[in-house]
Amino acid sequence: MKPYLMESEEEARRLVAQARAHPVSQHLVTTGLSEGHAALDAGCGPGVITAVMAHQVGPSGSVVGLDLNPERLAEARASCEPLPNCRFIQADVRTSGLPDACFDYVWCQFVLEYLPRPETALAELVRMTRPGGRVVVSEVDGVGTFNWPMSPVVQAGIPKFLQALASTGFDIHAGRKMYHLFRHAGLKDVRVHLSPLWVVAGAADSRLMRDWSIRLQTLEPVAAPAFGGLEAYREFSQAYLDLLCDEDALKYSVLLVTEGRKP
Ligand SMILES: C[S@@+](CC[C@H](N)C(=O)[O-])C[C@H]1O[C@@H](n2cnc3c(N)ncnc32)[C@H](O)[C@@H]1O
Repeated sequence: MKPYLMESEEEARRLVAQARAHPVSQHLVTTGLSEGHAALDAGCGPGVITAVMAHQVGPSGSVVGLDLNPERLAEARASCEPLPNCRFIQADVRTSGLPDACFDYVWCQFVLEYLPRPETALAELVRMTRPGGRVVVSEVDGVGTFNWPMSPVVQAGIPKFLQALASTGFDIHAGRKMYHLFRHAGLKDVRVHLSPLWVVAGAADSRLMRDWSIRLQTLEPVAAPAFGGLEAYREFSQAYLDLLCDEDALKYSVLLVTEGRKP
């Protein structure tokens, strides 16, 4: 089993395109990232958001990008090379090895959804945050399932697809669970911000089509058994891509950004 479900040769390109399509700078500002902060981007991937954070904290601040995957980190280091206030470390977000209370602001996007026990990672994010600092988790909720109308192949396939993902520990509803987890982690002033991840009334653009084509292909080894074999899974994948470019169908997905203050 791959440590990260979505790992593939095209994953870095997919993540860069996704991060550029959904700019997070407003979420970072709204949840309190400020000039001079020492900040963490936990599960930073290829570093697109780390760079945005580095600009927002400015020369008097600093950002650490943390990721488990050495290839993602190499890409992040290369793209953030001109930014002297960024550094990167290879670590597991659940056991980072970083000191207690070393950050003013901790950001973690699209990582906890992959972890079977997200509360362990959240406790580690809280541990690294100084009293008064903020922990912010950005997650999907029901991604890819809010569509109408759906063909019978898509309708019948989505529960199988979700069941296969769940068997790996991936939680499609991670976003809605963060408020409860934040409260139980002892965080205060917990707030949740909801925004669209995409709203496609008609045909999806080439970026979203490519994103889903990579996702569906990468997940073949995990999902095909739930469909009784590769052929049936590929039929579902094609029907899903057809839905994405259906001019008469609505497709949307939401992002939930949850923030809390460490007391
Ligand atoms: C979907 S990507 C999100 C990247 C970035 N946060 C973004 O929003 O573009 C998930 C990232 O989390 C990393 N990851 C997965 N499990 C991890 C763990 N246990 N510790 C640290 N990083 C992890 C993966 O290597 C990958 O780069």
